[in-house]
Formats: sequence, structure tokens, C-alpha cells
Amino acid sequence: MVKVLFVCLGNICRSPMAEAIFLHKLAERGLTHEFDVDSAGTGNWHEGETPDPRTIKTLAEHGMKWFSHARQFNTTDFDEFDYILAMDSSNYSDLMRWPGCEPDKVRLLLDCIPDSARSDVPDPYSGGLGGFEQVFKMLDESCEFLLNEIVQEQR
Ligand code: 4NP
Repeated sequence: MVKVLFVCLGNICRSPMAEAIFLHKLAERGLTHEFDVDSAGTGNWHEGETPDPRTIKTLAEHGMKWFSHARQFNTTDFDEFDYILAMDSSNYSDLMRWPGCEPDKVRLLLDCIPDSARSDVPDPYSGGLGGFEQVFKMLDESCEFLLNEIVQEQR
């Protein structure tokens, strides 16, 4: 079982969207049973909440559904997961400072895209719906590269 965790700040916008997109790709490739996928936030403000309505709407527009309620990242996640993908450099540095950090497991999601022009998936929380669609495109592209990479590594 390959365990993949997506991490953002609130766990209601970017990381639950990445989780849903990644799971969608796994289903398309018939790989669902080989992976354990989850998302978490470095902050705890939205603990137990469903994803932001704009996340749910954007996913639905692409024929996808959401999977998990918000939870805060936990030190045990460093042991639990094989791949921990941070949405932006602020999430990344928070994780690097986290007690019990296993730095080799943590990376920026957009670094999965070769020669990526940007390294951060922007926080869409304070903007409009259009920002969520932009985020969707970045997550869709980066998750494709991430999945290809993991499949190669596991072969
Ligand atoms: P996310 O977006 O990190 O992509 O889930 C945010 C959601 C909530 C907040 C910030 C970012 N907040 O400050 O409550």
C-alpha cells in the first residue's frame, strides 16, 4: 500500500481538492486498491468541516466528488505516510519545523512538474470561484506527474 498525504493550511480548499483529483486518477487507472490517500491542514480552524463550498463546486464541475472532512496534520503522519505533498512554501516550512519531521518524505507538490514556472499552489480562500478553477488546473497537472513518478518508483 502506497500512502500519500496532501497538506495545505486549512484543509478545506487545496488539499481536499488534490486528494479528490489524485483519487480520481487512481480510479481511472484501476489503482485505487494499491493506495491510501488523505489530506490535512497545518492549522486546526476547520477541524471536522466539509471542504469549502467552492472546492466542492469546482470538483463537481469536473465530475468529481470530495472525500474527507478537515483535520489537522499530526506528527504520526510522518510515520504513517510515504509521500507528503505541501501546497505552498509556507506549508512546507511549517512541516519542516514540525516536531518529529521526516524531511525526506516532504516536498512541494508543484516540484513534481518538471521545470515548473511556479512552486506554490496559491491559497484561493480569500478570492473568487475563478481562483479555485486555476488551482484545480495546477493540481490536476501536478497530480498526474506525481502519480506517474510513484508508479515508476514502485515498479
Ligand atoms: P486551504 O485554504 O489552506 O487551501 O484549505 C485556506 C482555508 C482556510 C483558511 C486559510 C486558507 N483560513 O484562514 O481559515
